[in-house]
Amino acid sequence: MQGVVTVIFGKQEKARDSKRVLPRHLGIIMDGNGRWAKKRGLPRTAGHTVGAANFKTITRYCASIGIEYLTVYAFSTENWKRPAEEVSALIKLFRQYLEEALRDFLDENIKVRFIGDTSVFPGEIRELIQETEKVSQNRTGMVLNIAMNYGGRDEITRAARILAEKALKGEIKPEEITEEAIAGELYTAGQPDPDLIIRPSGEQRVSNFLLWQSAYAEYIICDILWPDFKPQDLENALDEFSKRQRRFGGV
Ligand code: FPP
Repeated sequence: MQGVVTVIFGKQEKARDSKRVLPRHLGIIMDGNGRWAKKRGLPRTAGHTVGAANFKTITRYCASIGIEYLTVYAFSTENWKRPAEEVSALIKLFRQYLEEALRDFLDENIKVRFIGDTSVFPGEIRELIQETEKVSQNRTGMVLNIAMNYGGRDEITRAARILAEKALKGEIKPEEITEEAIAGELYTAGQPDPDLIIRPSGEQRVSNFLLWQSAYAEYIICDILWPDFKPQDLENALDEFSKRQRRFGGV
């Protein structure tokens, strides 16, 4: 069939118009776990457990359809304000899923990277982070950025500090602090900016996610809570993205 590509994912088979424009870099704010659990009379942590399983499903799906870069927001610099019990349940989930990522994402050829200040996590998590990045560094498939203890303001501040230190040492001149120089000190240095950011759960906020990089990203907000967000919902968002006219400030 001309003009149609077939993507096979598990038992699903989809025919898609080959003219559809895919985002090279997709960002996802995995929001709504708490509300998903509350609706079912479950503790919030149960929502995170199902949300974490969904993270794996959607990550695999993105790799299977040819997304080049996927950035997921797993834990923000502000999430430490949550009750200690919830934070420790999330850290437990990170451990479990990082161990699984080490094994499972091997088949998908996924290169895993972490963005954010991961130095604050317990030693065991930091070791898993290092190991996951090391094991996957030569993979050639989709790049998965997991944002953990990530905040866009924190990231820009860190970049500014690095450049200021270089200027103080005389390694660069102040006029060499350009947009490119700042982008080059972000966690995502060398990666394309996100083309599309999806926020499930209906909240219409940026929440400190990829502040610098999302200057011209398209946003799609959908009312589905993250644990319920299925590959078909992603497909719908991708169809909508493909119809958007991107002008990047031009006409
Ligand atoms: C936001 O929902 C979700 C989080 C703060 C945690 C997201 C983390 C996961 C899905 C686990 C992923 C695991 C790995 C290894 C990447 P919320 O709790 O703010 O939901 P609410 O707005 O309904 O309260």
